[in-house]
Amino acid sequence: MEAALEVDAYPGFNASDLDYEAVSIVGAPEGAAVSVERDVVCGYVSPRHDDLTVHPEFRRRGHGRRLFAAGLDLAARANELRLYVPLGGGGQAFARAMGMTYDSSMWLMYLAPDAAVPDPAWPSGVVVRTFGDWLPVRRYVALLNAAFTDHPGLASWTPAQVAHAHFRPDFDPSTITLVSPADRPDDPIAFVRVGVRPPEEGDPAPVGEVWLVGVLAEWRGRGLGRELLRASVAQLRALGAGRIKLSVEAENELALGLYRRTGFVPAVEWPHWTHPVAASGR
Ligand SMILES: CC(C)(COP(=O)(O)OP(=O)(O)OC[C@H]1O[C@@H](n2cnc3c(N)ncnc32)[C@H](O)[C@@H]1OP(=O)(O)O)[C@@H](O)C(=O)NCCC(=O)NCCS
Repeated sequence: MEAALEVDAYPGFNASDLDYEAVSIVGAPEGAAVSVERDVVCGYVSPRHDDLTVHPEFRRRGHGRRLFAAGLDLAARANELRLYVPLGGGGQAFARAMGMTYDSSMWLMYLAPDAAVPDPAWPSGVVVRTFGDWLPVRRYVALLNAAFTDHPGLASWTPAQVAHAHFRPDFDPSTITLVSPADRPDDPIAFVRVGVRPPEEGDPAPVGEVWLVGVLAEWRGRGLGRELLRASVAQLRALGAGRIKLSVEAENELALGLYRRTGFVPAVEWPHWTHPVAASGR
């Protein structure tokens, strides 16, 4: 991953992103495949992360092609394989050779350190808590999956995967904020997970990230997403973050609008290409 990052210089990606992706892959290894040449792992495909990458020293030997076939198998339960295709390098030629077509983009958005964002004002009838022993991982994961059932792409998690991520030495339960109805405080209906990342090039301060925000369908439209976002910004700034980033599907207009109104500005476009799984004949 690091060798590819050095050569391909994907815009908006850094080593700490890869670190998180690696931990996420290891937490659910059945979701990824690797290519091996003479006992050396030289490429991998992880449909959940929209990622197919071959080590720069092992390219143009058919690894990408084999990984693509493995990716179609892994994506069998979705109806398409969706991958990030960087604009530079051989990515686009490869994607075309595999019969993929451009589908849509994700945006990496940033909030400037000095952008004024109001403190959260929670609607009445809810309680706000941070993650802790009161919420078993199994129920937390059920909430994540329920909030993302109608999301485009392969957004789903397993308890093992989330437990693995929570085993990281730097995991801080207070970076997960949950909202519950006041009369059922142990039954969360919305959440946000944030993180503080190392400064990126030119940043004087650490970079905050809003990783994942979700509200159960029946609780949408009451401002919970907006207040969770505001709470995230306040929390990240209190933790010393300068710029704050997040990524979003360009087609997820509701989320995109919410982020824009809060002051997030699109900075990097990550094009995604797809290939139907059923039409592959596999
Ligand atoms: C794109 C990438 C995965 C290709 O891996 P690879 O192992 O070199 O791919 P393969 O050897 O199996 O190539 C399969 C076909 O793709 C096309 N292709 C791959 N790289 C290409 C390049 N640099 N220029 C033109 N065509 C290319 C060719 O048609 C090739 O067939 P050929 O070798 O018979 O001509 C690799 O360059 C990479 O990891 N790039 C960075 C990440 C990325 O762009 N991922 C895209 C995911 S869709």
